[in-house]
Amino acid sequence: MAANQTADASRRRALTIMAVAAVVVALAVVMALRMANAPGTTRASLIGGPFALQDGDGKTISDQTLRGRPFLVYFGYTHCPDVCPTELARISDVLTEMGSQSIPALFITVDPERDTPKVVQDYVSSFNARIIGLSGSPEAVAAAERAYRVFARKGQTRADGDYSMDHSSIVYLMDRTGAFIEAFNVERPVKEAAKELEQFL
Ligand code: NI
Repeated sequence: MAANQTADASRRRALTIMAVAAVVVALAVVMALRMANAPGTTRASLIGGPFALQDGDGKTISDQTLRGRPFLVYFGYTHCPDVCPTELARISDVLTEMGSQSIPALFITVDPERDTPKVVQDYVSSFNARIIGLSGSPEAVAAAERAYRVFARKGQTRADGDYSMDHSSIVYLMDRTGAFIEAFNVERPVKEAAKELEQFL
């Protein structure tokens, strides 16, 4: 009996050691991932960087303006038939869920020819007043697209003058220093998405 108790005690001890070891390993993995995402590393520097565009009030919003807070960035255009409205609605739901904790979300046009800052702002306000619509000169927009590795190309112009833009559709989550964290997943329950963002506040 005494021998059994000793065996039990040492088994418990072994299990405790294994549990502690598992936690240590898990923490090491989390730290390594955090460091891999830290500014200055190759991965982080691939996406994001300087940009300077105008909001609907004519105010310049740049990467510097957003320093100190994490933010979301999405590129699209106001004439987009389906993808952009869907993504904007999802982003809007997450911001609403976050309430007063809400972070800035930028919608940057890839169609500066038609989307003036005012047009973009009017468009995004119909989704959520917290979304900041941005545009600028074709050069300034192209620079922002380059910084975020965005693909955007004008499609064929129809007889009525209308055209579509082919463009990549990624919601970028940037940290408070402007470094890329991840492609933010908005295709999941809104509470889950909001909870993840709150970790970066
Ligand atoms: Ni679109």
